[in-house]
Amino acid sequence: MKALILSGGKGTRLRPLTYTGAKQLVPVCNKPILWYGIEAIVAAGITDIGIVVSPETGEEVKGKTGDGERFGARITYLVQDQPAGLAHAVKIAQPFLGDVPFVMYLGDNLIQDSLHRFCHTFKSRQLEALTLLKSVPNPKAFGVAEVDASGKILRLVEKPELPPSDLALVGVYFFSPIIHEVIADLKPSERGELEITDAIQTLIDLQKAVEAQQLEGWWLDTGKKDDLLEANRIILDAYTNCSVSGDVDTQSRVIGRVDVGVGTRIINCTIRGPVIIGDNCHLENCFIGPYSSIADNVTLVDMDLEHSVILQGARLENIHHRIVDSLIGQKASLKPASYRPKAVRLMIGDDCQIELV
Ligand code: DAU
Repeated sequence: MKALILSGGKGTRLRPLTYTGAKQLVPVCNKPILWYGIEAIVAAGITDIGIVVSPETGEEVKGKTGDGERFGARITYLVQDQPAGLAHAVKIAQPFLGDVPFVMYLGDNLIQDSLHRFCHTFKSRQLEALTLLKSVPNPKAFGVAEVDASGKILRLVEKPELPPSDLALVGVYFFSPIIHEVIADLKPSERGELEITDAIQTLIDLQKAVEAQQLEGWWLDTGKKDDLLEANRIILDAYTNCSVSGDVDTQSRVIGRVDVGVGTRIINCTIRGPVIIGDNCHLENCFIGPYSSIADNVTLVDMDLEHSVILQGARLENIHHRIVDSLIGQKASLKPASYRPKAVRLMIGDDCQIELV
């Protein structure tokens, strides 16, 4: 089997962060979201991976992720000239995919379940398509499946006004090469995209072997700030160790599971895990509360932070109130306030400079 990861698209829902970078590279627990997908695919024994990228962010994805060696995989980058839909991405990837079955993984999705079980179902039942489903409170935001009592898919609809169920299509799909024939005849949807949901529906209409399996663990579509913070919370909970490589002074208190990277200095701070702090950071007179991820080269001085993600090189100094539920872009800089609100909630893009006055 091969794998196809979709890392193109516009990333409009994570703006302003995605004006300057690929949304799939935004870190969760200091690791790009995209890499979780690559690791899950490799763990399932699939090492020939194509990554669909956009012309705007392709070089960044490629530069950061490389040729796959670090994952034990071989990565081929495939440029999609415009975000014309998930099925369009499969179409442009056809020369790479050839006539072998493949797993398609949306680069902004994170799932807890291992792919092994699904690979096994797909192969042993000789399916043309296997989709994964998860019950969600807001099905309107996703592709939705109507299934019968035995779990057989009757119908799929993309972002329906009146969802036929609460079972959303998770962004991981398994296909046999027959999908290319269906996509070749597919017409764009009302929103002008070639929808993978429509392609699977065509397979169902042709009475091909299409099945669905429900996820057991969590699923996160990290397309929006709050989803991303939730992903960060869950991953921090699951994976933070207690590994302190940096320099923590005797005035500081480190409580719970906290990772501190190489070259990082922590002076007179209280850090309450789970928290991850990258390399070469400077933290002084701060309280860092649970579920915070701080990337490399970040400077935080005289401030409180909780349940937030701070990207590489950001600088926040003398902020005398707590920053919560926030996403702060690379190299963003936040200056002091002359008033004292209880807390602030922020989504700050890369390179922004903000003064609270
Ligand atoms: O996350 C699950 C949902 O993903 C499913 O429930 C929906 O049925 C499916 O259509 C899809 O909906 P989204 O609106 O979330 O898709 P989005 O436009 O965010 O694209 C998903 C990923 O694919 C993202 O990493 C960007 C990439 N992409 C997207 C498009 C439209 C491409 O690489 N090329 C594209 O043309």
